[in-house]
Amino acid sequence: MTERVFSRRLRIIGTFMRAACSIGALLAMGALALADPLGLPQVPVPGDNLQSPEKIALGDKLFHDARFSIDGTVSCATCHNDKKAFTDSPLRVSEGHHKLTGTRNAPTVINSAYFTTLFWDGRSGSLEDQSQHPMVNPVEMGLPNHEPVLKIVREDPAYVEAFKKVFGKTGRDVTMEEVKKALASFERTIVSGDSPFDKWYFGGDRNAISEQAKRGFDVFVGSGRCVSCHVVEQTQALFTDNRFHNIGVGINRIQADVPRLAEQFLKAKAAGAEVDKAVLSDPKVSDLGRFAVTDSFDEMGGFKTSTLRNIAVTAPYMHDGSLKTLKDVVKHYNEGGKSPGDPSPINPYLSGGIRPLNLTDQQIDDLVAFMETLTSPAFAAAQTK
Ligand code: HEC
Ligand code: HEC
Repeated sequence: MTERVFSRRLRIIGTFMRAACSIGALLAMGALALADPLGLPQVPVPGDNLQSPEKIALGDKLFHDARFSIDGTVSCATCHNDKKAFTDSPLRVSEGHHKLTGTRNAPTVINSAYFTTLFWDGRSGSLEDQSQHPMVNPVEMGLPNHEPVLKIVREDPAYVEAFKKVFGKTGRDVTMEEVKKALASFERTIVSGDSPFDKWYFGGDRNAISEQAKRGFDVFVGSGRCVSCHVVEQTQALFTDNRFHNIGVGINRIQADVPRLAEQFLKAKAAGAEVDKAVLSDPKVSDLGRFAVTDSFDEMGGFKTSTLRNIAVTAPYMHDGSLKTLKDVVKHYNEGGKSPGDPSPINPYLSGGIRPLNLTDQQIDDLVAFMETLTSPAFAAAQTK
């Protein structure tokens, strides 16, 4: 099939699907319809937390409120800054209150509405659940418990009015449930597609990306094998399979120590240690990856496949922020799951999908050029420096 016919067919299917989805969702939700930008499906919205403009505005306010941190300086937006495509790029790992550092790189919140689990290790199952953790994480917002948050939203007149309007609740009836719902509703509006890649692949615009980027896409779906985890479908592309894989990042640092660390961690967990706190305060525990959540050695050093949307503006990369550039990332894969200059042997838990690729220098550059077409217009100006 020639590229032209291929693109045109996709465009027709894409337009049809989008029209069908939007109408269906509008009817089903009976609430604010969320736009589905080119390249993305309709945003899933849970039945018990429908969208409304007032709820979204309340979530936006909560997201930006630094009073929910122990020293009054850190809000969600500190680490998920809209000017940096909702990350804290170029930090390697995030900085919380009193400049305390955690162990992990802040992923973007853009399109997190589509993820079936949240966090690099998937330890949270919904945006609602996820939103309560940073406030009480000792290296993030640092509160001892959620009481200070509740005190503010129950007493600050602007919040009192908003919670009453959105949830019909005041005083002690306002709980973390409402706070979490409002935050999640706001996050479900942080959706972004419509990148040059989408315009080319789904929109049929042949000139939306360069010839080099088109070659890079061929590598992405072909010899680079990237698409097996960073999924692209007929009418949409989330660039993630929402699953966990050990791709050889971080694990090499703890490889020799894995049995002891695993045992120690399981003991601590059995004694009541919280996974959220443990993984963000100890880099070695962090590198255990999905194992820390499932206790399964099959998932040792496994992390959630990241979306690649807006990837060019969210450096550095990986759960530990250890790879500085997209070229470093591609070289890591090209080596079969070893970062450039890393002398350690390949780890025994490595995913079967990761193996040396033998890409040429030209193919490596093409692949990077392709990933650079995944930036949505709204974030094209995001700072990476
Ligand atoms: C100190 C920096 C910091 C603050 C403050 C912070 N986050 Fe994060 N956020 C991170 C880091 C780091 C991760 C990844 C942690 C992990 O995976 O273990 C993350 C992960 C997430 C994710 C999961 C994204 C994904 O791809 O799975 C969401 C959603 C999110 N944060 C929303 C929030 C919200 C809402 C708040 C405020 C209540 C918040 N964050 C406050 C740094 C921060
Ligand atoms: C076996 C599944 C798998 C394959 C194949 C794969 N990836 Fe990944 N990718 C992942 C996982 C899992 C992560 C997160 C790993 C971590 O943080 O430790 C990731 C992370 C990334 C990141 C960093 C994302 C971020 O936000 O920091 C980039 C860029 C990337 N992959 C590009 C590629 C490219 C290009 C290819 C093909 C050469 C590829 N991936 C092949 C699973 C895969």
